[in-house]
Amino acid sequence: MKEKQLVQDLLDFIDNSPSPYHAVKSLENQLASYDFEQLNEKHKWELKPEGRYYVIRDDSSIIFFTTGKKSLTDSGYKIFGAHTDSPGLKIKPNPVNNVEGLIRLGVEVYGGPILATFTDRDLSLAGRISYKTPSGKIASKLVHFDQPLLRLPNLAIHMNRTVNEEGLKLHKQNELALIISTSFETLLSQQYLIQLLEKASGIKEDQILSWELNVYDTQKGSFWGDKQQFYANSQLDNLASCHIGLQAILDESALKSENTLLCAFFDHEEIGSESTKGADGSFLPDILERIALAMDLNKEDYQRILANSFMISADMAHAYQPNFPAAYEPDHKVTVNKGPVIKVNANHRYSSECISEAMFILWCEQTNTPYQKYSHRTDIPCGSTIGPMTSAKLGIRTVDVGNPMWAMHSIRESAGVKDHTYMINVIKYFFSTE
Ligand code: CO
Repeated sequence: MKEKQLVQDLLDFIDNSPSPYHAVKSLENQLASYDFEQLNEKHKWELKPEGRYYVIRDDSSIIFFTTGKKSLTDSGYKIFGAHTDSPGLKIKPNPVNNVEGLIRLGVEVYGGPILATFTDRDLSLAGRISYKTPSGKIASKLVHFDQPLLRLPNLAIHMNRTVNEEGLKLHKQNELALIISTSFETLLSQQYLIQLLEKASGIKEDQILSWELNVYDTQKGSFWGDKQQFYANSQLDNLASCHIGLQAILDESALKSENTLLCAFFDHEEIGSESTKGADGSFLPDILERIALAMDLNKEDYQRILANSFMISADMAHAYQPNFPAAYEPDHKVTVNKGPVIKVNANHRYSSECISEAMFILWCEQTNTPYQKYSHRTDIPCGSTIGPMTSAKLGIRTVDVGNPMWAMHSIRESAGVKDHTYMINVIKYFFSTE
């Protein structure tokens, strides 16, 4: 695919993935069309050489892998990791609030979004519901409201005269509730949301027991710039990296590779990764060990596999924005459309070290891909990724990389078209090289 088509494919993937549950469903659909077979953690696994498999944990984390011809003990896993979640707003359990004839839904803040960017957008809801079946079992279903449903109208400047000097500050408890309707009834029960969920899901009101709903932006992805060399959408951090891993593993060169390749995409990165399905949980160690056991390898073999493995932890990087020069480390500015970024931090907020960094540079050189190195300002706390956690848990050599982007954690982030293809090319090479 050409550069632009690859990014269009990414934008379509994001537009079809308004929540981490939908992102995993989108990935699953693509994998199924390439004959990947689903494995259930509750069942006994029988893996074939040159097989294609995937495992989903709790609907929003996914690991997919191909088993190569080469000895796994000698060659290890080639792992590409990323996350499926993005910071934003989630609906509270009893969200319906009726004041002065306006119905609002109460929200909690998930992770660290730039809250001001959620104002004046055409927002809606997506996520999953759990319900009881006629036979008394629990089942789950994805829900997705297509139409703009909700809004957080800004305060007029006439009532907030210093907004341009002081910035838009929103009180998390009092000022984030989202308007959904008008009502002349004095009391409106919590049943209102459940009735909406019935309409969207087809599951009867009295069967619906619980839900997890994300607020998302209904605006579709777009290209911009005089040559349309940039693109914008929500959730680029980190669905852009998930899309890179998927494209790379589905490439002919990777599917023909004799290596055992694995992509691991986790929910809950934005809130610290500590959960059953997060990168700091048991999901990745469990799956890596079970693959080895299903191949009749023993504990020592498994430890040898880990020692021979390599992981690329991919998460987006902070591109230079010349309007805010003071925010950046002056000698480590990274630029959109100038290639993948290698992230380095002395305090190991990123997992890169001298050797893993050198290996990634070599792969860039071998694919004629430009690369850049990033270091955060010394006087500002640096963010982190899944890399330090998974490498600490497993002892796998890891490098932290990512494509440069603007406005990380805004509801509308943007990045460069060229970088997407650059990174895919390097990951394809990583997957198919010795
Ligand atoms: Co991220």
